[in-house]
Amino acid sequence: MSIVMDGNGRWAKERGEERLRGHFEGVESIRACVEECVRLGIRYISLFAFSEENWNRSEHEVTGLMKLIFNSMEKEMHLFIGQNVRLRVLGNRDRLPDELNGEIDKIEAMTKNNDVLDMILFISYSGQWDILQAARRFAADAAADPSLLETAGADTFSKYLVTAGIPDPDLIIRTSGEMRLSNYLLWQAAYSEYYFTDTLWPDFRKEEFHKALEEYSRRDRRYGKV
Ligand code: IPE
Ligand code: IPE
Ligand code: MG
Repeated sequence: MSIVMDGNGRWAKERGEERLRGHFEGVESIRACVEECVRLGIRYISLFAFSEENWNRSEHEVTGLMKLIFNSMEKEMHLFIGQNVRLRVLGNRDRLPDELNGEIDKIEAMTKNNDVLDMILFISYSGQWDILQAARRFAADAAADPSLLETAGADTFSKYLVTAGIPDPDLIIRTSGEMRLSNYLLWQAAYSEYYFTDTLWPDFRKEEFHKALEEYSRRDRRYGKV
């Protein structure tokens, strides 16, 4: 399952506070959802934390978000280790501050054998960026071995995406009432179920999470069949 965590800015605005307060509060929602995943035996959760397009926000907000991500990772480390959670960060890592990259490397290495829950954070990620970087690497391999052009199907191509080896999400939740993809998991969402809720991300806690799962359980997934 995957979540587009949206509405932090509006949550803060409603309270007359600055946008970063909303992001700060959103971390609590992440903790709540991760805990529920562990409790319910959900094997994968991925979270859209920062998009390629989000680099265009004010320097103040971008710097604040990078600091928040860094601090949260440091702070929550014990939770990952204690609950046997494996953390991975996917996206264009070249654009991240060195300090954050160092922290990510450290946590990924420390948790790589954890096998209760895989938590994937998409940072500096966009679906088109992902497909492009995959196409480039595929083209390089195909130049060396032209038979690939004939034999490669969707399964082969998806091994070039940054999500290689991670199952496509069954369910994608987006909070805050926005009904768009915003360049998230374009390839991987081919058959995902979508769940949209007006609840802003900082208010999306345990009960909201269960509501989404309950609605998902009523969906009829046909994959093009009847
Ligand atoms: C989502 O909340 C978090 C990020 C995109 C980093 P927003 O910051 O987009 O909040 P709104 O949409 O402005 O309310
Ligand atoms: C999508 O939210 C990105 C994340 C939640 C990280 P945005 O708030 O950036 O999306 P748009 O701009 O409303 O489409
Ligand atoms: Mg938003």
